Formats: sequence, structure tokens, C-alpha cells
Amino acid sequence: MTGKNLFKSHLYQMSTYQPPLEGRSVQQHLLLDFNERTLPVGREVEDALVDYIRSGALQKYPSYGDVVERIARHAGVDRACLMITNGSDQGIDLAIRSVCSAGDEAIIPVPSFAIYRQFAEVENASIIEPQYSREEGFPTSDVLRLISSKTRLVVIPNPNNPTGTAVPREDVLRILEAAADALVLVDECYFEYLGETLVDLVEQYPNLLVTRTFSKTWGLSSLRMGFIVSHPDNINQLLKVRGPYDINQLAVVATLAALESPDYTHQYVDEVMQKCKPALEAWCRGRKIDFWPSRANFIWMFPPQPAELQVFLQEQGILVRPKKDLSGKLGVRVNLGDLQQTQRLIDCLNRFYDE
Ligand SMILES: Cc1ncc(COP(=O)(O)O)c(C=O)c1O
Repeated sequence: MTGKNLFKSHLYQMSTYQPPLEGRSVQQHLLLDFNERTLPVGREVEDALVDYIRSGALQKYPSYGDVVERIARHAGVDRACLMITNGSDQGIDLAIRSVCSAGDEAIIPVPSFAIYRQFAEVENASIIEPQYSREEGFPTSDVLRLISSKTRLVVIPNPNNPTGTAVPREDVLRILEAAADALVLVDECYFEYLGETLVDLVEQYPNLLVTRTFSKTWGLSSLRMGFIVSHPDNINQLLKVRGPYDINQLAVVATLAALESPDYTHQYVDEVMQKCKPALEAWCRGRKIDFWPSRANFIWMFPPQPAELQVFLQEQGILVRPKKDLSGKLGVRVNLGDLQQTQRLIDCLNRFYDE
């Protein structure tokens, strides 16, 4: 038997999802390429981690104590509706793995975060990709038209990455009603920036599953803490699929400390959304540069000479992410930092276009 026959045959047709993570350095770069928080976490979180590391308990498997209750209180949902996951990526994986089998239809609007397609492909699902548009936003009527008895999954990122598009609550409700036999996965990775959620609907709509994370505004990307909010019956099924210690203890320690001292997050979100994002949008408008209207902490813009701009910014120590739209046109997705960092970015942009 050759290696080619070992795994499910469709895996050999797939490619690996490899975002450009290597060589990024908080010392050398202003990181505006992964939609992360650009400042360190609060001091309380660092102290809690150091204390735990020094307590001599790293050899022990994790135990989760009341972290589920604490996150549920923070999210405003019943404890039975919530489970923790290793980042929201794991929540997305568990959801897709648990509902999709080969040939099932998964509706995944594009352009969007690549992981949905990756995980759906692993299940050999049949993927249907209605398209976002800059004018209309989320393709609600296309999604409604495409829902059929074969649909097992509908993905609704709210807001979406890289477009920053938010989906009106009424549209999600229409999809939940129309796709009553499918799982509607609402990815609220950037919830804190948008400030709108659907977690209040999970007991009413058993086909709704919401994923959230502590990666972005809370700054815990490296530790991997996410959570799923869904009907308690769904949580009970998904807990069978997740491993008993998939979330590491340091993620739990950091999350508990962050929830005790959340100001570092709230202040950051306010600064990014009230000051920095309007400043970058104003710069784009002033330069007549197209961008997708965004409700998140990033802007997908289509400036002249995007490839050269990316190289120039990199030389100045600023990393941004090149992203093509569906027509193949190259843009750059830039996430916001604090005011000083945004000013530094705008200064560099001006230098590139003026010199
Ligand atoms: C839309 C979206 N969902 C989920 C994730 C994954 O986040 P996490 O770090 O919680 O796995 C990302 C990360 O960029 C994202 O953009």
C-alpha cells in the first residue's frame, strides 16, 4: 500500500491552509496584518500567567473550574448554552465536522475567512459560494435562494473578514427560519468591534451556533481561547467531539484574569473604533481610494500600486495583508492599532504616495 491510499482520498486534492505567520515580530514590526490587538494585554493578565507558571503546576492536565460560568456571565447566556474551545477556529471545526458529511451542501459566502472552506473540504462537503458585494453587503437573497433539503450548513461571519461586512439581524432570522434543518454558524470573532450579537437567540433557534473568541480585542491569540454559544442540546453533542483538555490551562488563567480587569479591552476598542478607523477612512476618502465599508477593526482597501505599497510598508516595519477580490484585483487589508500607530501608518502611506 502506498502513502497515497492511507487517508481519505479527497484530502490529497486539498491544499494546506498556511497563513504567513512566520517572521512577524512585535519588537520589529507594527503588526497590521492579522486583525490582532496591536498592544500587549493588561498587566493583570501577565501577572496571573507568571503566577501560574511559577506555581509549579504546569505538569498537571488542565482543569477548567468555573471558567465556563464566568464566560457565560460575560456573554449574558446560560451556562448550559456555552462551551470553551481552542480558539474560535476549533469551534468552527467542531461545528462543521459534526454536521457535514460527504456531499452535503455547505453555503459559505465569499470572499471570507479561508478556514470555513478548509474545514468543509475536509468533510468533503459540497461547497456553494454566493458572493458578497461592496454595495449590497452579505448576499442574503442568494443564500435564501440556495437553501435546499441538502443544505447542512450556512456560514454567516458577522462581521466578515476581509470585507468587514455586518449582517442585519433580520436577515439572520430569515435564514434561520429558511434553513431550519441546517446549522447556521454565526462567527462573531470581531463581536467587540461590532457590538451586536445573536447569542440571545440560541434557545429559541436550535439551528443557531455562535462562535466567539478571546483572540482579537482581548489579545489572547497566542493562548487560544474561544467559545461556542448554542442550544444546550447542541453543546451536549459537541462536547462529545471536543477533547477533554483541548484548551490549555494558561488560556484559562489569562481569560479569567482578563474578565476580572476588562478595561484594557474596552479602552482599546473605543480608541480603534472612535478615532483610528475614522482617521484611516478619512485618509482613503481624501486620496480617493476605494475600500469596503467595514464594521470591524480592519479596512480592505484598493490603493494604486498595492504590491509596491506592501513592500514599502514592510521596509518601514509595518506589516499589512495583500488580499485579492473576486475579480482578481489586488487590495490590502489593514487592521487598525491605537492612535499613535495609526498616525505612523498614515505618515508612511503619505510618504509612499507623495514621494
Ligand atoms: C472571521 C474569523 N473567524 C475566526 C478567526 C479565528 O480566530 P481564533 O483565533 O479565535 O481561532 C479569525 C481570525 O482571523 C477570523 O478572522
